[in-house]
Amino acid sequence: MCPGSSGPGSMTRVGPVPTTQVFVPSSVNGPGLGARTQTMPSIGHHDGSEGSSLPMGDTTADGRAVAELLRARIARQGPITFAAFMDAALYGEGGFYGRRAVGERGDFVTAPHVSPVFGILLAAQVEEFWRLLDEPDPFSIVEAGAGDGTLARQVMDALPDAVRRRSTYLAVDRSPTARAALRAEGLRAAASVSELPAARHGCLLANELLDNLPFHRLRMTDDGPAELYVRVDGDGFELVQGPLSEPGLADLVPAELSVGLEWPARPAATRFLDEAIRAIARGYVWLADYALSGAEEAPSVHGYRAHRLETDVLSEPGSRDITAGVDFASLARHASGRGLAVWGPVSQRDALLALGFRDLDRRAQQRQVEAVAARRGIDALRIYSNRARANLLLARGGLGDFSVMCVGIGVEREPASTSSTL
Ligand SMILES: C[S@@+](CC[C@H](N)C(=O)[O-])C[C@H]1O[C@@H](n2cnc3c(N)ncnc32)[C@H](O)[C@@H]1O
Repeated sequence: MCPGSSGPGSMTRVGPVPTTQVFVPSSVNGPGLGARTQTMPSIGHHDGSEGSSLPMGDTTADGRAVAELLRARIARQGPITFAAFMDAALYGEGGFYGRRAVGERGDFVTAPHVSPVFGILLAAQVEEFWRLLDEPDPFSIVEAGAGDGTLARQVMDALPDAVRRRSTYLAVDRSPTARAALRAEGLRAAASVSELPAARHGCLLANELLDNLPFHRLRMTDDGPAELYVRVDGDGFELVQGPLSEPGLADLVPAELSVGLEWPARPAATRFLDEAIRAIARGYVWLADYALSGAEEAPSVHGYRAHRLETDVLSEPGSRDITAGVDFASLARHASGRGLAVWGPVSQRDALLALGFRDLDRRAQQRQVEAVAARRGIDALRIYSNRARANLLLARGGLGDFSVMCVGIGVEREPASTSSTL
């Protein structure tokens, strides 16, 4: 998430989490723990309200409705994993993504909202994918986590005719509200990448999707990783330490993680990557997001509400986004382990520079100079201000530090965005 003014570099790093009490569930795989954390709520494809007018208003701004559901669930099941809590808070009934969350009028902005140059340069990458794949017709573009369709619009508008004519654009989003917005934009929308037939020659793009996939909060102890669960604490919620809810989670934690530090383990990201790879018969999966810093630093679990960063993600669930950086190294290992070509991760700054950012900026600067010469001061100012916004995409300590990674399926030719040696 990038709240324009507060990119990841300016985020408050959460130090080691406060001491939590320890609880020992009767059975790690019993009801309420491992078994249920695997059970994702419906992703909406059976949702009767789909396509009808959806609640755009903030029905749960105070988080009460979601909190009540979670309290009832915890009363029934006992403490739940943080992944299950996050899943309910973002995607469950009354959850955060049930409203328009992204955009200047939402709670945070992402790169395409900062500047259309992001989509223009991504279109250059998509065009190159098409050429590297020997110009397939039809050429399939899938965008996962498409949100309100801002990026889709930018990419389609910037694609050259020869590619656009042969392209199909499918926007995928788990949120029924997002799908309604995407359809209102005239886009084809689906609820899940896992539903797509596997026949595609093309590419799958995902900008800032992975960080929003639910994660388990693990903490290193003298006896290896333990898991933090959520339980009720008076009117609110608190974390409580217990054993791992799924044995496989331990594989997602770096062995060198210091005792006392936390790690967000996100098997949902590995599953998503597998689904994305399965949806493309031949082509590329292109992922951009902000990455976890190394195992020596406590990762920041945080959220955004009304463009402000918040570190208390347990109170008023549903009222804010919840996010933590993405473990690109583990995703790269997973894809390589499947015998696929992996490029990157490189910084978003390098990726955008490799895709021609400087050329675009020079042309804009030329138009600005011409506007000044022609005494069109307002135009010159507008161009200057657009250039300043575009440059935020490269900002160190902000969006420029995001990571871009690409996976090739049945293709070995490296794309421009990850080839940077700048
Ligand atoms: C932070 S927003 C990013 C939106 C857009 N990509 C952008 O750059 O502005 C994340 C989006 O991913 C969607 N999402 C989360 N999990 C998903 C999944 N498993 N499949 C598809 N979309 C998902 C959310 O509903 C939300 O719209």
